[in-house]
Amino acid sequence: MALPEEFLQELRDKNDITDVVSSYVNLKRAGRLYSGRCPFHSEKTPSFYVYPDTQSFYCFGCGTGGEVITFIRKIENLDYIEAVKLLAQRCGMDMPQDSYDDSMAKLRRSIYEINRETARFFHKCLISPEGKAGLDYLRRRGLTDKTIKRFGLGFAPDKPFELINHLHSKGYSDSKLIQANVATRSRNGHTMSRFYNRVMFPIIDLRGNVVAFGGRIMSDQKPKYLNTADTPVFSKSHQLFALNMAKNVNTRQLILAEGYMDVIALHQAGFENAVATLGTALTPSQAEIMHRYADEVIICYDSDEAGTKASDRAIPMLRKAGLKVRVVTVPGAKDPDEFMKSHGDKGPAIFRVLLEKSAGDIDYKLEKLLDKYNINQTQGKVEYLTEAAAIIADSANPIERDIYISSLSEKLGVKKDAIDQQVQKRLKYSARQQRRKDFRNISDDLSARHDKINPEKAKNRRAATAEEYLIAFLLENPHMSQYITSKVPPSKFATEFNKKVYSVVLNKIESNGNTTLTALSQEFTQDELSYIAAFVATILPESLNKESLDQCITVLLQEYEKNLTESPKDMSDDDMLEYFNKLGKIKGS
Ligand code: GTP
Ligand code: MN
Repeated sequence: MALPEEFLQELRDKNDITDVVSSYVNLKRAGRLYSGRCPFHSEKTPSFYVYPDTQSFYCFGCGTGGEVITFIRKIENLDYIEAVKLLAQRCGMDMPQDSYDDSMAKLRRSIYEINRETARFFHKCLISPEGKAGLDYLRRRGLTDKTIKRFGLGFAPDKPFELINHLHSKGYSDSKLIQANVATRSRNGHTMSRFYNRVMFPIIDLRGNVVAFGGRIMSDQKPKYLNTADTPVFSKSHQLFALNMAKNVNTRQLILAEGYMDVIALHQAGFENAVATLGTALTPSQAEIMHRYADEVIICYDSDEAGTKASDRAIPMLRKAGLKVRVVTVPGAKDPDEFMKSHGDKGPAIFRVLLEKSAGDIDYKLEKLLDKYNINQTQGKVEYLTEAAAIIADSANPIERDIYISSLSEKLGVKKDAIDQQVQKRLKYSARQQRRKDFRNISDDLSARHDKINPEKAKNRRAATAEEYLIAFLLENPHMSQYITSKVPPSKFATEFNKKVYSVVLNKIESNGNTTLTALSQEFTQDELSYIAAFVATILPESLNKESLDQCITVLLQEYEKNLTESPKDMSDDDMLEYFNKLGKIKGS
C-alpha cells in the first residue's frame, strides 16, 4: 500500500489543510491559527484548531487531531487509501497505478458497484411488465413518475435468483454479493436475493454512492420494511435518507421525518430539504451530520405516541449538536405523507403555513407539560413551574431564557424573580453535572491514550515532555535538524514511541528538506497521528525558541545519564555492583 513520497508531497501541497477543513467547518482566523467548532463532537464554544504551519488540526475538546488525510478519513468515514483518493480527486491528481491493492478499499469499491448495478436492476424491473405490481403500488400511493425516477425507486421481483444471475453475469462473486448484503445464503446453500417482491428505496450517500436499500412489502405482512444490514460501506446510524438531495437546498434548514414515504411525499410537494433516519432513533452522529448542512431542524414525526416519544429524544440531541429545533405536528393525519395525500393540491401551501408557525422546541415542551399538571391548583402550579424551569435552564440560551421567564410569569401570575431563581438553581446543578462528566471523560480519554500509544511516558514524564518539545520544534524549524541531532541523537530518547517519531521526522527532513504531519501518515496509525498532533498542538508556537530548545536538550541529556546509571540491565558485573552500592548508600544516607 506504500504510496510514493513524491506523490504524497504533491498531494499535501495541493490540499492545504485550511482549505480542506474550511469546506466542512466554519473557521475563523486567530493569529497564525484558525479556530472553529469541532466537527467530531458537539460543542458550543470552538476548541478545534487548524495549524497552517504544521498542516495539522487538533481539538482540545475531544482530543481528535492529525493531518489532512486523517481529517478526511474521520469526517468522511473512509479508510486511508480512499481518503488519499478523495484528496487526489479534489485537486485533480491521478492516483499512482499500483496503489490499489488495499483489500478493504477494493472490497468497498466492489460493493458500491454491486449496489449501483442492483439499483439499476430494480429500477428497470419496476418499469418493466414484471414490476407492474410495484409501479401500481407506488402510483396508488400518489407518487408521480418524475418522483419515482428522481429517487431511483425500484422493484425486487418475486424470484430470488433473477438479481443474482444478473450480477453473476456482470462478474460478481457470491461472496461479494453476500458482503454487499444484496444476497443471503439460503439454508441449502444457495445464494439468493435478500429482497424479493418488495418496492425498493435506494439509500444514497453524500457522494452519490448507493450504500443500501430499504424494501417495503406491498401488503400488511411483516416485516413491513426490510433494510440492508450494516456492511463495509453502510452504517445505518451514520446515514440519513435523502440527505444527498436535501443538502443541495441552500436554506440551512432541514425537515426531519420518520419514514422513507414521508420524505418522498415531502420532496414531491416541494419540500426538498426533508430527510429521515433509517428506521432507527436519531443518533448523535446523525445530528452532527445534519449540523454540517443546517442551522435549524424542523422535526415532523408521526403524530402518534411513538412519534411524540421519538421527538422528545431527538430534541436534546439536535440541540446538543448546535442546531435550533422546531417541531411541527400535522393535524388530522398520521404522518406527513398521509397529510399531503389527504389535502391534494392544497397540501403544500397548508404545510408551508404549518412550518412557518411551528413552535420552537421549548414552546412545544412547555405546551406538552400543560397536559401533565393542573395549573389551576397551587400544587400543580408549583410542580409545573419546577419542571418548566428545568426545561428552560436545559434548553434555552440566555435571551430565550429571559423571554420564557417573562411569559411564564405573566401566564401563571408568579413573580419573575421567583421563576428566575428556580432556573438559576437548575443551571448551577446542570453545570456541576456537566463539569463532572467532562472531567471524567477527558481524563479517562487522555490517560487511556497515553497508556496505549506511549506507555513509557508515565514513568519518564520529564524526558517524554522534552522529547515532544524537540519533535514539535523540528517540525517548525527543519533547518535546525543538524544542530539538534548533533546534541541529541535518537538513541538518547527515553521513550520508544517518541524515538520512532523523532527518527522518522529526521529522515523526512534529510530527504526533503522539511516535513509536515501529513508526511508521517504512512509510518503511523491514525491514533498515533492524532496523538502526535495533540502534543504538537499543545506546545505554544511562541515557546519554540532557541532558549527553550537548549533547555530541553539539557533535560534530555540529564535524563539520559540518569537512566544509564539507574538501569540495571545492559551493565557489566562491575557496573552492577557499583550500582547496587550506590543504591545502598542513597538508601542508607
Ligand atoms: P408507509 O407505512 O409505507 O407509509 O411507510 P412509512 O415510511 O410511513 O413507515 P413508518 O412510519 O411505519 O415507519 C417509519 C420508518 O421506520 C420506515 O420508513 C422504515 O425506515 C422504518 N420501519 C418501519 N417498519 C419497519 C420494519 O418492519 N422493519 C424495519 N427494519 N424498519 C421499519
Ligand atoms: Mn406512512
